[in-house]
Amino acid sequence: MAIDTRINQSKLPKHVAVIMDGNGRWAKQRGKLRTFGHGKGVKAVRETVETAAEMGIEYLTLYAFSTENWNRPKFEVNALMTLLVKTINKETKTLTENNIRLNAIGDLQSLPSSCLKELNEAIEKTKGNTRMTLTLALSYSSKWEMTEAIKAIAKNVKSGKLDVEAINESTIDEHLCTLGIPDPELLIRTSGEHRISNFLLWQIAYAELYFTDKLWPDFEKIDFEAAIIDYQGRERRFGKISEQVSA
Ligand code: FPP
Repeated sequence: MAIDTRINQSKLPKHVAVIMDGNGRWAKQRGKLRTFGHGKGVKAVRETVETAAEMGIEYLTLYAFSTENWNRPKFEVNALMTLLVKTINKETKTLTENNIRLNAIGDLQSLPSSCLKELNEAIEKTKGNTRMTLTLALSYSSKWEMTEAIKAIAKNVKSGKLDVEAINESTIDEHLCTLGIPDPELLIRTSGEHRISNFLLWQIAYAELYFTDKLWPDFEKIDFEAAIIDYQGRERRFGKISEQVSA
């Protein structure tokens, strides 16, 4: 289906990040188990990936499982992991047909081995695809990522490979899981919550934030398009004044 004509193709964000929230509440509203909501959330993932690729977005990052999500009831964690394995397995062919590369960020070693195996296979199979990079944040949290980056940088200083005075913003960028991926210009969060929840804290320093009340399973193509239209109507000043930006 065609993309909304109000969208200006020359002003697209390169990278859109999404906090998919509200699966549990969506299920509860229907008298179902929370895991039912996660299952329904897969449809919204598929539609968002398709829309973003069709539109010409180069990088899409989805917050699928946070470090904190390990603290949920075991039943729900297991159901989410099973769903991830199943979905990745099922969707790899479609990703390839659509020239989409799969990537993952987070403490991937903490994932169950079946999940990690499926993930690595899909990453390997899609590594040559060039239309869009779909990054799943799995067992991810920004504070974990920054702690790891600081440890790695400290080791390089200790071993004499790096001078403390030479540390700059690029040094930090180079030690994050998102190395090689531009910072998101737009961050979308569903479900009416206005929080960042430990997601890409360094990378979203200048991102535009877009919140919608829609619960994730209800998030559709028109909602993604609405977020892009809203983004395109904003003036991004990066600390400058309006006249400097428009000059
Ligand atoms: C947040 O809703 C959603 C998640 C923690 C999981 C997202 C996972 C999926 C959409 C399923 C599969 C994903 C992929 C990428 C294959 P919530 O449970 O926090 O909802 P609540 O805030 O209403 O409790």
